[in-house]
Amino acid sequence: MRASAPGKIILFGEHAVVYGRHSLVSAINLRCYVEAKESKEVLIKSSLGVTSLDFKIHPYVSYAIKRFSEKAKIDGVKIEIKSEIPIGSGLGSSAAVTVATLKALDAEFNTGFTNEEILELAKLVELDVQGRASGVDPFISTYGGAWLIPEKKRVVIPYDFFVINLGSKSTAEMVAKVAKLRKRHSKTVERIFDAIDALTVEAASKIDDYKTIEELISINQSLLRALGVSTPEIDKLIAELDELGFKAKITGAGGGGCIFGLKKEKIPPESLQVSYEEEGVRIEDS
Ligand code: PMV
Repeated sequence: MRASAPGKIILFGEHAVVYGRHSLVSAINLRCYVEAKESKEVLIKSSLGVTSLDFKIHPYVSYAIKRFSEKAKIDGVKIEIKSEIPIGSGLGSSAAVTVATLKALDAEFNTGFTNEEILELAKLVELDVQGRASGVDPFISTYGGAWLIPEKKRVVIPYDFFVINLGSKSTAEMVAKVAKLRKRHSKTVERIFDAIDALTVEAASKIDDYKTIEELISINQSLLRALGVSTPEIDKLIAELDELGFKAKITGAGGGGCIFGLKKEKIPPESLQVSYEEEGVRIEDS
C-alpha cells in the first residue's frame, strides 16, 4: 500500500517556541510518498540508497519499522520512498517520511491504527532519532492544515508561498546557539522571544491581511537575525528580494535551510512555489 504525508513551513515563531512562546506552522503541498509491501526481509529504497534496517542511512524509516513491529508481528517489508520535500532543510521531510511510512505499514498489515495512534508512534520515532523534539512536525504531517501552537488552533492560510532553499543546516546547532545567547543576555533575549510571541499571535488573528502579514514577516526576520540565526548569505538574499518587492524570512532553524515569503502575481527567480495544504496523511492509489 502507498501513503503520503505533507511537509511544513514555520510561518512565525521558530526558536521562541522552544521557550514556550507561540508558533504558526502550516502544512505545504510538497509530499513524501511511501510504498510498503509485505516481504520476507526488510528492504528500504530511497534517494539515499538501498538498505535493510539501517539506523544511519534511513534512521526515521528504520525506527518507524521497529516501532511498528513492536505493535504488529511482521517478518519483513519492502519500503520505497519518493519525496518531493528537500531533505534536511527545515521543510519537515523527516516527519513526513515517518508518518507516511507508518500509515503505509498500517494499511499493508491491516492494523487499523487511527491517525492519533500513528501520530503517537511518529513522535516516538522522532524521539528515537533526535533525542529531543517538540512533536510539531509529525502533528502537521498527520493532520495537515495550519495551526497556532501550543493551543492547536486551526488557521486557514489564504496565500501561496515562495521558498528558496539555501541547503541543509543543523537545527541542533542553531538551537544551541540561541541557548548560549540567552544564557549571556537573558533579559534581552527573553524580550526578543516575547516580541516574536506577540507578532505570531497577531499574525494568526490577522491572517487575511496581506500587508500586515508581510510586515510581520520582516519584523520576525529582524528578530531572528538578532538571535544570531541568520547568515550573511540569507541577509543578502533577503535584501535583494526586498528590492524586487518581496518580504522574506527564515523558516525553521536558520543558519542555512530555507527562507520563504508570500507569493505575489509572480514568485522570485529561482524560488519554488508552494501552497498551504489542507490534507494530512492519506492513502494513495497504489
Ligand atoms: O528547521 P526545523 O524544521 O528543524 O525547525 C526548527 C524550529 C526550532 O524552533 C528552531 C526548533 C524547534 O524544535 O521548534
